Amino acid sequence: MRATARENMTDPTKKSGSEHIPVMTKEVLELLQCRPGGVFVDSTVGLGGHAQEILERLQPGGQLIGIDRDRESLELAEARLKPFGKSVRLVHDNYKNLPLILNNLVVRPVDGILVDLGVSSHQLLSPERGFSFQSDVMLDMRMDRTQQWTAADLVNKLSESELADLIYRDGEERLSRRIAAAIVQERRKAAITRCAQLADIVSRVFKVRGHQAIHPATRTFQALRIAVNEELEGLEEFLSEAFGFLKSGGRMVVISFHSLEDRIVKKAFRKLAGQCACDAPPELCTCPRQELAHLITARPMTPGPDELAANPRARSARLRALERI
Ligand SMILES: C[S@@+](CC[C@H](N)C(=O)[O-])C[C@H]1O[C@@H](n2cnc3c(N)ncnc32)[C@H](O)[C@@H]1O
Repeated sequence: MRATARENMTDPTKKSGSEHIPVMTKEVLELLQCRPGGVFVDSTVGLGGHAQEILERLQPGGQLIGIDRDRESLELAEARLKPFGKSVRLVHDNYKNLPLILNNLVVRPVDGILVDLGVSSHQLLSPERGFSFQSDVMLDMRMDRTQQWTAADLVNKLSESELADLIYRDGEERLSRRIAAAIVQERRKAAITRCAQLADIVSRVFKVRGHQAIHPATRTFQALRIAVNEELEGLEEFLSEAFGFLKSGGRMVVISFHSLEDRIVKKAFRKLAGQCACDAPPELCTCPRQELAHLITARPMTPGPDELAANPRARSARLRALERI
């Protein structure tokens, strides 16, 4: 089956010139312990890179439920995973609705769950999606294009203090107040609707401060993307609810791409493992200590040198895994 499925495989993502290379695939496959007949969930199926590898290891008799909130990515995944026929079920939804999705499909419990957070290279590099400060396109950044509010709505409608808080909180940007002030000053003249326009406004705030290692707009764009897609809201609750669908011995693997996400994953995993997840001194800690899981990764795993050489975009990946007792 493995060879046949791969031979039949066309990779639709390659045609677009914005191929997404799945991150830490070797580690994901080892940790998930995919096996024939297994039932797995890929909560962020994206372009189906990880899903394809998982599905190859589930045959015969296995099943993969793939979820993504981006309909375009899901269509590409559908084409890529077609050779697996009824072994794969794809759902256009927010993974936060996982309990509903699995209940509707009458699937439970499952052997493993993968969560590969953030955006794909396909989304980032498709100019019409408006994620990149390097393109002169509409400022959009929605993963789910059926959603109403875009990055341009936030930039033009939030108050100066709301913008500053957002850029500080979700972008960890020290110059958030000055950037928010510059945005508000510019939007008084004309609405800010394009990526390059915003990147230019932010860059001008930095200009007096000399050379920057990363593009000056990087953190502001990250903050807007996180806010538009509500990437951090409900993540901890989702991880805990998803955990409830694992069989005993089932595993969950989460890959995150920035410290804000990783902090949430670490906290959720420590709680499930019955460990302290708060910042209080030990004598004041009131964390519940019910041990429901073993942490497989005490510290996050990161990509090895070979992977980084082949795919520099993997550099910020942090992988954590646990097993249900
Ligand atoms: C890093 S990509 C996943 C790539 C995938 N593992 C692959 O190999 O092609 C992350 C994906 O998660 C999706 N996503 C992010 N947040 C989501 C959410 N709350 N619900 C469903 N999908 C989400 C994005 O649309 C994106 O396609």
